Amino acid sequence: MRPEASSTGGEAMPPPGEFRIRPLLVEEAPAAAALIRAAFAVQPVRPDPPPSALRETADGVRKQLASGGGMAVEVAGTLVGVLLWTPNEDGLWLARLAVAPEWRRRGIARALLAAAEAEARRRGLEHLRLGTRLVLEGNRRLFASCGFRETTLHTHPGYAEPTWVTMEKRLDAEG
Ligand SMILES: CC(C)(COP(=O)(O)OP(=O)(O)OC[C@H]1O[C@@H](n2cnc3c(N)ncnc32)[C@H](O)[C@@H]1OP(=O)(O)O)[C@@H](O)C(=O)NCCC(=O)NCCS
Repeated sequence: MRPEASSTGGEAMPPPGEFRIRPLLVEEAPAAAALIRAAFAVQPVRPDPPPSALRETADGVRKQLASGGGMAVEVAGTLVGVLLWTPNEDGLWLARLAVAPEWRRRGIARALLAAAEAEARRRGLEHLRLGTRLVLEGNRRLFASCGFRETTLHTHPGYAEPTWVTMEKRLDAEG
């Protein structure tokens, strides 16, 4: 994978080909949980209610890996991106997409989403789905630009207005 140029200069930017994307290993659950907590703590707006990902644990990651799987991106041996998934209704439910703050806007999330799509196609599945907070407009743009469309609005218990939306990418169409 060729990382994209960063508008921030990015002195830590690796040369093309330095990102390694591969399945997340169960022994990496503690590091993955720490990355998820750190990533969800740095968002452009603070979602209300706070994301459960802020409380992710190694056990939680292990459980998700046992019921599904996930991918990791590493740079020079350090985990900088993760994505978990579980099979759900002829598709994959994607969760915990997380990129370390200092490695953002270089295409890592897009690469993780592409890997999930490849896995779903390999399994002959029909769709990818995920949920994202309505206030995270950058996230919604990212998913839309990757072929997801918004399907259902949801409201957290105790809230008067919708707080999150399901997004879906159909894999039965061309592409
Ligand atoms: C969302 C997240 C995974 C994106 O990771 P990333 O590696 O930076 O994403 P990519 O570089 O692949 O894609 C970036 C694209 O996403 C969109 N985007 C994401 N965050 C954005 C922001 N804060 N402002 C504007 N655009 C944003 C843009 O379309 C951007 O494209 P561009 O760089 O060409 O403008 C990362 O910001 C993160 O970990 N956030 C905290 C956790 C989280 O919100 N996870 C998703 C839960 S649904």
